[in-house]
Parts: sequence; C-alpha cells; structure tokens
Amino acid sequence: ETALARLEGTQSAVAFASGMAALTAVLLVRASMGLRHVVAVRPLYGCSDHLLTAGLIGTEVTWTDPAGIADAIRPDTGLVMVETPANPTLAEVDIRAVARACGSVPLLVDSTFATPVLQRPVEHGARIVLHSATKYLGGHGDVLAGVVACDEEFAGKLRQVRFATGGVLHPLASYLLLRGLSTLPVRMRAAATTAADLARR
Ligand SMILES: Cc1ncc(COP(=O)(O)O)c(C=O)c1O
Repeated sequence: ETALARLEGTQSAVAFASGMAALTAVLLVRASMGLRHVVAVRPLYGCSDHLLTAGLIGTEVTWTDPAGIADAIRPDTGLVMVETPANPTLAEVDIRAVARACGSVPLLVDSTFATPVLQRPVEHGARIVLHSATKYLGGHGDVLAGVVACDEEFAGKLRQVRFATGGVLHPLASYLLLRGLSTLPVRMRAAATTAADLARR
C-alpha cells in the first residue's frame, strides 16, 4: 500500500481482493454516508457498469457524457466515476476538465489501463484512483487484486468496509503484487515501445 501511494502521489492506498472488491468498498463508504447517487461516464469496464446499472449494492446511477456531469450532480451524489483509458475501447476523458465539473463531489478515476507510470489522476484533480491490480500492476497473470489510492481519511473508511465485508487482499497475493510493482516501470516502457513499433508498421 505504501508503494502504491508513493506511485500515485496520494497520502494512502488500500489494497483489496480484486478490482471489483475495491470499487464495491468505495461505493459502500459513500452510500453509508447517505450519498447513494453516482454520476458515471461510459464506457466503464463491464462489471463496473453492471454493478452500477443493476444497483446491486443500493446505489443509483446517472450515466452521462463528460459535458453533462455538472448538470447530473444532485444533493445526494457521492461520487463521479470515469475510466480512462477505458476497457475495452481505450476511450479517454480529460481528467482535469471532468474534475472541474465535479465541484465538491469526489472524482474517482479507474486508471487501470494507464498505471501510475503513464497517468497520475490526482495531479489533475481526481480524489480517488482505482486500479484492477490484476492487470499491469501485478503484471505476471498470477494475482487477483485491487487498489484504491486516496487521502488518509477516506482510506480509513475503506479499511473499515474492507474489514467488515471480507475484501481483504490475501498475503500471498500481496507479496505477488509487491513483486510485480518492482518491474512496473520497465514493463510499461517495453509495452509502450512495442506498441509504438506496431503502430508504425
Ligand atoms: C478497467 C478495469 N477496472 C476494474 C476491473 C475489475 O478488476 P478485477 O478483475 O481485479 O476485479 C477490470 C477488470 O478487467 C478492469 O479492466
């Protein structure tokens, strides 16, 4: 968690059993404060979309495009959520512009596909950064994990939910994730170089 907070430039980070466990905890923390409404921009990863659309944990979602965020915010809005680059289309949003539209409502950016090597959303106004560490952060296809990088106050609330709901990261998975993080910059550089080569061809 310390390594991830340092990479994202946040006070804290909280590790979960999966990316979906991480998102669930964020939604539960805000809902427990009476803020059950979420404003979200499509596309989101399919399960994130489903979790919000189906209202499985009692949240309500308004889908909008980035330009519609300010108008979609209500007094009970607890979160604005975007994913950039998005899975699977790689669509991107302007984090700084979206953060401005959020006003005092926290902006969550799912930054899974960029990793903190290529994108640090808090530097552009996001308050919460979510990763499925199952992807690049783990990096070896052998760990299922999720991470939320945020301030210490929100991290404390997330830990309470994690403790109460069982979304805790297994010790071996924690070890594997830490191992993966040590090569993250090298792997991201290699992936970017290869991708640029393919694009040129
Ligand atoms: C962008 C994004 N967010 C969240 C998730 C969910 O993560 P997990 O599979 O670790 O639960 C995924 C998984 O594919 C993803 O691609």
